[in-house]
Amino acid sequence: MDLGTKLFRRALLLLAGNRVAAAAAQRYGLKLGAKRFVAGLTREEALKEIAGLNRKGISVTVDHLGEGIRELTEAKVFADEYVRLLADVHENRVDAGVSLKPTQMGLALDPETTYEHIRGIVRQANAHHLFVCIDMENSPYTDATIAIVRKLQAEGLTGVGTVIQAYLRRSMNDCRRLTKERVVLRLVKGAYKEADSIAYPRKQEVDDHFKKLIEHRLDSGVFTAIATHDPAIIDWTCAYAAKKGIARSAYEFQMLYGVASTLQERLALEGYGVRCYVPYGRSWYPYFVRRLAERPANVWFILKNW
Ligand code: FDA
Repeated sequence: MDLGTKLFRRALLLLAGNRVAAAAAQRYGLKLGAKRFVAGLTREEALKEIAGLNRKGISVTVDHLGEGIRELTEAKVFADEYVRLLADVHENRVDAGVSLKPTQMGLALDPETTYEHIRGIVRQANAHHLFVCIDMENSPYTDATIAIVRKLQAEGLTGVGTVIQAYLRRSMNDCRRLTKERVVLRLVKGAYKEADSIAYPRKQEVDDHFKKLIEHRLDSGVFTAIATHDPAIIDWTCAYAAKKGIARSAYEFQMLYGVASTLQERLALEGYGVRCYVPYGRSWYPYFVRRLAERPANVWFILKNW
């Protein structure tokens, strides 16, 4: 990646964390081309998109957007929305689980209350046999997020997993430990701004680490989601699994709503498990800006179609 792109990416990631911009964006509907990446503002809009994806053979994990809240009362509102969302998914008989962010449930404010909220959501999901993925945010929350998942498992709650980010140098250790405990994991490259001291700065290093994590998980037989749009890594994974005789039921590919849709449909048609991450809600701004940072060309695409 050239220096200009690197700096542009960093600037976008700083913008993603800007609270003033986020608050301004929240007051309006989906602006700035966010519709491409966000399914809508309401649960009803999201459910419609989910049903459409299911018709194409694509499963879903649905995310009610929100993160980095400032008042614990907001966490309660988000947690209640997740409980309603799970009930709607169940009632509408769509093929979807949910993804949530720990800081949306209050992790930066009060870890105990956060745990209570997440436990309530996982219990509701368990009652409907639905899966909850706890997304991984930036590195100050890695330990606490992993601890939440381990505690839920220790309490006997099932149907819950988390995410491992290949850009973090620590991730193989985390992955090994969670695999021993048979925790379902989503593997990703990583989307936040992290210091070089804890994260691999070069794409090649991240990709190499990503492949090592995939190998470790596929060899273990514990269910794994490989969440990437990178065709080279997807092809490599298919070839590795075929060579090792790993059943397709042991893994799935996950991709984001609005990204690489043709690839999602093609893999589903070829008989691979494919799950699309469908976000909705008013707090679309940080999520949207991170999508721009992943591919600065998106900024030009949006400006061109203004
Ligand atoms: P890479 O960035 O190398 O992109 C490969 C190719 O994919 C690009 O060349 C481009 O063609 C296409 N592409 C990638 N991003 C695009 C975009 N935004 N718009 C258009 N095209 C794009 N991260 C995290 O830190 N915590 C988490 O919990 C999650 N959760 C998560 C769930 C799911 C289902 C996915 C797919 C991703 C995440 N991520 C995440 C984000 C992840 O860390 C990563 O930032 C993105 O997936 C982009 O990286 P790729 O693996 O696609 O590869």
